[in-house]
Amino acid sequence: MPVLELKDIAKQYNKRVWGVQGMSLDVEDKEFIVFLGPSGCGKTTCMRMIAGLEETTRGSIILQGKDITDLPPRDRGISMVFQNYAIWPHMTVYDNIAFALKLKKLPSSEIKSRVEEVADMVKIGTMLSRFPGQMSGGQQQRVALARALAVRPKLFLMDEPLSNLDAKLRVIMRTELKAIHQRTEATSIFVTHDQSEAMSMADRIVIMKDGEIVQVGTPEDVYFRSADIFVAGFIGTPPTNFFYVDVKKENGCTILDHEFFKAELGKEDSDRLSGYEEIVLGVRPEDFILNKEGNGILKSQVLVVEPQGAHQVVALEVEGNIIKTLVPSDHSLRPGDNISFDFDMRHLHFFDKQTEKRIS
Ligand SMILES: Nc1ncnc2c1ncn2[C@@H]1O[C@H](COP(=O)(O)OP(=O)(O)OP(=O)(O)O)[C@@H](O)[C@H]1O
Ligand SMILES: [Mg+2]
Repeated sequence: MPVLELKDIAKQYNKRVWGVQGMSLDVEDKEFIVFLGPSGCGKTTCMRMIAGLEETTRGSIILQGKDITDLPPRDRGISMVFQNYAIWPHMTVYDNIAFALKLKKLPSSEIKSRVEEVADMVKIGTMLSRFPGQMSGGQQQRVALARALAVRPKLFLMDEPLSNLDAKLRVIMRTELKAIHQRTEATSIFVTHDQSEAMSMADRIVIMKDGEIVQVGTPEDVYFRSADIFVAGFIGTPPTNFFYVDVKKENGCTILDHEFFKAELGKEDSDRLSGYEEIVLGVRPEDFILNKEGNGILKSQVLVVEPQGAHQVVALEVEGNIIKTLVPSDHSLRPGDNISFDFDMRHLHFFDKQTEKRIS
C-alpha cells in the first residue's frame, strides 16, 4: 500500500486562479520524491495541501490508508520544512527541536534522547545551547530539519529547503540530506526548481507545469525518455537542442532531413517514425560527437566556447538558433573554427510536432 495517495487533488484560489489543476500520485514507503518545475507551477500549493495548510478544492488525500483531506495539520502526522527555516530565534537549538515533542507531552528523558539523536544526525549535536542567531544559514537549516525529523513523521515535506544557502553549501547539504534519508528512511517529498538537485536526490521525480504533472519517473526515465519537449528542455545542462526535421524515405532508408544536415536512421527508429512526415528532433549536448575529420552529419562554425573543466560547452549557430554541444576539453577550439559533429544515434529523442509528446 502506498504511504500517500493523491487522488485528483486541485486547488483554486479566490474562485479564480488554479494553483493545482488535478494531481494524482502514489508515494511508496521510504521513497524520496522530488517535485520539480518552474516558478508558479504549483509545487508549494501541492505541499501545503498535503500538510493541511491549504484547503483542497477538489480530490482527496490519503495517508496510510486514511482520508486526511479535511483533517487539521496537527492531526496528520506530517512534518514540513520551509524555505525560510521558520525556527524560533528566541529559543535555543535544543528548545527549537524539543518544542513539538513537549506539546506531545512525551517524557523528558525521551525528549532528550530524541533531540540528541536527530541533532547528531544533522551534525549540530554540539550546538544545542546556542541560539539560531549565533549560527550560519546552513546550521540554521539543519535545526529546521532536526526539528521536523524529531517528531518521526509519517511523511516529511521539504519546500525548497536549500534555496537560502550559497551554491557550494547547497551541493554539500543535498548530499547530506540524501545520507540522512538513507538513515531515517522517512518517506519524503522535496520541492525544488533546480533540475540537477532533483536528478541527484530523487528516487522518482514529479515534473510539474501549469499546475499539472507532466511526467513521473526515475532520474533515468526523465532524462533518457523525456515525456515531451518541455521535459527534454528542462532536464539536463545545457538542455536538449531541438530541430524541426522532415522524415523521408531514400533508397529504402528513413532519413531525418534538415536544412543543415541529413541523418539516416536504423531499423528501430525508422519503425518508431512510420507514418510521420515532420517531427521535432531532440539531441542532448552530450550526444553530439566531434568528428575530427570534418565530415560528420552536421557542419557548422564555433560561435562561443565555455570551458567547464573536463568538458567545454561549444555553442554553434544553426538556422538562427543557438545549439549547445559538449566537447572534451582536450580539443582546442576557438570562435570561428569550422567544426563537425555526428549524433549518438542511440539517444535521439523524437517528438510529435503538434502535441509535443514523445514518439515512442
Ligand atoms: N495565496 C494565493 N492566492 C492566489 N494565488 C496564489 C496563492 N498562492 C499561490 N497562488 C498562485 O498559484 C500558482 C502556483 O503557486 P505556487 O506557489 O504553488 O508555485 P510554486 O511552484 O511553488 O512556485 P515557486 O517555484 O515560485 O515557489 C501561481 O500561479 C500562484 O500565483
Ligand atoms: Mg514554491
